Amino acid sequence: LSEALDQSRAPILEALQKFVDNGVTQFTTPGHKSGRSIDEYTASVLGQSTFARDIPELTGVEDRHMTVEVTQEAQDLAAQVHHADGVMFSSNGSSLSVHVALMTIANRGDKVIFARNFHRSVAAAIILTEVTPVWLQPPVDTEMNVQHGPTVESVREIIAKHPDAKALMLTSPDYYGFTSDIRGIAEVCHEHDVVLMVDAAWGPHFPFHPELPASEMECGADIAVGSIHKTLNGLQQASILKYAGPRVDPNRAKLAFGLYESTSASMLVFGSIDGDRRLMAMRGEELWGNALRQSRRIRASLAGIQGIRAVGREVLERPGVFDQDETKLVLDFSGLGITGVQAADFLATECRITVELAEQRHIMALITAADDDRTADRLIEGLRLLASWATEHGGTPPPAGVPPLADLQTEVVLSPRDAMFGRVRSVPLEDAPGQIIAECVSPYPPGIPLLIPGERITPPMIDFIHAIQDMRIPVPDTVDSSLKTLRVVA
Ligand SMILES: Cc1ncc(COP(=O)(O)O)c(C=O)c1O
Repeated sequence: LSEALDQSRAPILEALQKFVDNGVTQFTTPGHKSGRSIDEYTASVLGQSTFARDIPELTGVEDRHMTVEVTQEAQDLAAQVHHADGVMFSSNGSSLSVHVALMTIANRGDKVIFARNFHRSVAAAIILTEVTPVWLQPPVDTEMNVQHGPTVESVREIIAKHPDAKALMLTSPDYYGFTSDIRGIAEVCHEHDVVLMVDAAWGPHFPFHPELPASEMECGADIAVGSIHKTLNGLQQASILKYAGPRVDPNRAKLAFGLYESTSASMLVFGSIDGDRRLMAMRGEELWGNALRQSRRIRASLAGIQGIRAVGREVLERPGVFDQDETKLVLDFSGLGITGVQAADFLATECRITVELAEQRHIMALITAADDDRTADRLIEGLRLLASWATEHGGTPPPAGVPPLADLQTEVVLSPRDAMFGRVRSVPLEDAPGQIIAECVSPYPPGIPLLIPGERITPPMIDFIHAIQDMRIPVPDTVDSSLKTLRVVA
């Protein structure tokens, strides 16, 4: 890409503003025609100006000739800051970017290795593309009871076992902000001509501050996903797909993208990606410097609050962990004898504070460029109140008998697509062990499937499902949302 790109420009925002200024009379979609026909109630909730800028890509942001030059220019600017040869904007979240990434790289039946701690959008991509999956189980961090990423050595071993694998896909950073040694893993993959795909949904801000982990593209990933709506200023569903180097065919990426993306992508969403990229290119280091400062300040304040511990750099000693994104503030409540879910409930109901993730032991408070002294102080105060409430009243202890993650390892016994769409039946939860599951079961957050179609159900999984029900952790993707029954292969 040319060095001459002007990062102070935002082509999509400029085109949106031009459209508004031109006072165009539309005989096009969307039917609200810049919000002319919405009622006052809708306008008062969603904002009249939201509708005024909700215009079509063609005949709105672009010209009638469908050259899509404005979007392309914005994507080229994004590619430069993300160290990619090419970037594509998604208005259907990183789920779409993940589906496109896999379809860009692999054909039906191709063997692809997946680090099994993936988000459920990866399970969907496997079902849609009909690749043949091979699981790589990252080591379990028994202290945190989570799987971070695979070690370089385990990648070397699994490629030796499956020399015909086309690609390897892993998630880095994980939901807790820990990254894998992407550079080391990329070297091993490329030695064996295996494409490295990285679901970096939680790390699109990495290029903007030297004290954040190195981004996956800088470390040699071939194709990667970043959720602009997760840690940056994108509107919900704003995501990017990035690729670089000789192992990815840009034409195939474009075609695959065309299969999945809406033909009416939201220019509000694309505009937010464009505006965020402009801001980050110009002031990213200052903004993320502040986010890091706030996160460190909250961590330091915990020295004065008994029973709450911030998970920190001690995790870097553990297998598979290479670096930490400190803006993901992971707090452990075991010292107070309460679960992360109870902590999150207290913060929400008593302090009007919401957090990104809550599970058995931890919460993760997401700190971004939007935080300042006031928001950080509110969280510190909320944590103080929580600690005194838990000390005084005592929480309900975490449920007993929850199987550790190490006992929940899975094995694929049938093609995920055949399992999902073949002959199925419904069985009571208690009768499910030994059966092959025909749906995803993904406790949310973090949305890592306990089971994906084609995997064998084991007794500890049923105990785990009971435990997450006790903790009121939602499982949004099962057919029977009460989880009294599971959908299995007939
Ligand atoms: C690791 C990971 N990948 C992909 C996704 C999908 O992202 P989206 O919600 O933008 O579709 C998520 C969502 O939480 C995620 O955590």
